[in-house]
Amino acid sequence: MTKAPARPYSQVCCWRVAAGSLVLVVASICGAAAQYPGWLIPAGGKEEKSPVSSVADAATKGKALFLSHCVRCHGPEGKGGGPDSEYAADLTDDLRTELNTEGVLFYKVWNGHSVQLRTETFDMPAFKDKLSRDEAWTVVEYVKVLRTPRR
Ligand code: HEC
Repeated sequence: MTKAPARPYSQVCCWRVAAGSLVLVVASICGAAAQYPGWLIPAGGKEEKSPVSSVADAATKGKALFLSHCVRCHGPEGKGGGPDSEYAADLTDDLRTELNTEGVLFYKVWNGHSVQLRTETFDMPAFKDKLSRDEAWTVVEYVKVLRTPRR
């Protein structure tokens, strides 16, 4: 009987690399989740910059999008209290302004989040299937205006 050939070195090496990168991916997802529990913010998402921030009328277009998609829950000034949600966040308060970079705002809008309280669910809907990426960034420009003069 012949002995099975030893596993070629390259294959062993590949598995190590794959396992190593998996650990890194899991660690970065956990890191992001620890900072924004429940929200899906991909690695590097916090640092992403708005591709439409230099577009002259971005905030004006963002306002129109905000009025049609967000006001019903977040209210006209983004402070919450819209007719369709008791739990929509105040998008303008200092703590949130501190925590939510424009990249974080984008991914919160893009991926949404659901809040489970007892038997009821209060959704921040995901907008990735309702808005294009540019539209979502445009709405983020308007959220930044709502924060003004606080930044
Ligand atoms: C159906 C109601 C509803 C609609 C429509 C809605 N939101 Fe929300 N939003 C919520 C709720 C509820 C939360 C709080 C979710 C949580 O904290 O888990 C929230 C949270 C957020 C947050 C995160 C706040 C934070 O600091 O964590 C942002 C940003 C946001 N909404 C922006 C928007 C924008 C922009 C739109 C329009 C494109 C929008 N939302 C539309 C209900 C809504």
